[in-house]
Amino acid sequence: MPAAPDKLFALRGQTLSFRSDPFRTPPDAAVSHNQDGLVVIGGGKIVDVGPAQEVLPRYPGIEVESHSDAIIMAGFVDCHVHYPQLPVIASYGEQLLEWLNKYTFPAESKFGDYAHARATAETFLDVSIENGITTSSVYCTTHPESVDAFFEAAHARGMCMAAGKVMMDRNGPESLCDTAETGYRDSKALIERWHGQGRLTYTVTPRFAPTSTSAQLEAAGALWREFPTTLMQTHISESIYEIEWVKELYPEAPDYLGVYETYGLIGRGANFGHAIHLTEREIARLTETGSGISHCPTSNTFIGSGLFDMQALRDCDNPIRVGMATDVGGGSSMSMFSTIKSSYEICQLQGYSLHPAKAFYLATLGSAEVLRMEDRIGNLAPGYDADIIVIDLKSKPLIDYRMRFVYDLWEALFIQMILADERAIRATFVGGKKLHQRASA
Ligand code: GUN
Ligand code: ZN
Repeated sequence: MPAAPDKLFALRGQTLSFRSDPFRTPPDAAVSHNQDGLVVIGGGKIVDVGPAQEVLPRYPGIEVESHSDAIIMAGFVDCHVHYPQLPVIASYGEQLLEWLNKYTFPAESKFGDYAHARATAETFLDVSIENGITTSSVYCTTHPESVDAFFEAAHARGMCMAAGKVMMDRNGPESLCDTAETGYRDSKALIERWHGQGRLTYTVTPRFAPTSTSAQLEAAGALWREFPTTLMQTHISESIYEIEWVKELYPEAPDYLGVYETYGLIGRGANFGHAIHLTEREIARLTETGSGISHCPTSNTFIGSGLFDMQALRDCDNPIRVGMATDVGGGSSMSMFSTIKSSYEICQLQGYSLHPAKAFYLATLGSAEVLRMEDRIGNLAPGYDADIIVIDLKSKPLIDYRMRFVYDLWEALFIQMILADERAIRATFVGGKKLHQRASA
């Protein structure tokens, strides 16, 4: 007997979805905002969205969950994060290369232990969901166990997650290094086990040029060509010392991106973390090839790496695809509100003000575009996966007070962007199932 289709139910309240890219269209025209909206959910998908008065009569007797003083929108998409670094979030001092050696590598070395990896993955997913993050592009560690643990935990929750085994065969502790050959073989076995299972996507993950030999980057490129529906993620141009190091290690390459290009690690589905100190040639190549970059604002300020140039890279005639990312544990927060606040501040320091429409777009559909998932996640539209958050617009006394003086949607959203934390996530739905409800809600 065929399984009975999931019963339909609906969320009622202010709904917000994107019609187009607010970097190209004025904010009011780029969104669809219903003051009294309805989202109909069934079979893990969004079935209908629109003004409640119009949509409700189409579904007589439907169960409705109503939310006042709240915005209902797509769940956040974290474009770059390291779940094994959750135990070292908020570690004092050091810039990138020392920070990796002092905190990151020792923490990651423990992930050959499946039990430790699984427990950390569960905590990471709990915290992500509490913060309204429903999809992430995740770095595991070199150990295949760290990938099994993560994917098993994500799969059990029905989450749409992208992740991969870090490939690194030099300049790290022995406990973290694979080889060009084992990196390829283990990654391939993981692709065969996990890619396309449920809502999971495998991501070929060479850590960054300094920790891979050319033989390993060659193997990573071959693997991505062999499995073109997987994604690719790595780091680029985060710190000036790192860039100098790459020049020494790969003297024949025209620049940092040129190293990845040599091995075919560029193009649609490639996701380069940080991208702060890019050359004109690199910017042009990222644009031409349809590659994506992950903006990691709290990480860039916390580690002291530099200021991402949003205006030049995204708010321009030839924009590069950009996603918003926490980059925990270099990043100092699992909150997407703190992350976009930090992005706003970084932009301000360069004389550019990031409009809330643009910030929320990057944290949802922008990230989904980098991950080649923009036709199924990151927006509130019929046919999309029902990964949805309810943002409480009055989640704490200061916000409640400030909201008394609000005159429009954008101001209300900007206040959330600057003042809100995880308490503002009243509920998180994953594939139509409520996986989180704030205790007091
Ligand atoms: N570059 C290479 N690995 C890492 C990492 O784990 N975190 C950050 N922030 N940068 C990196
Ligand atoms: Zn990173």
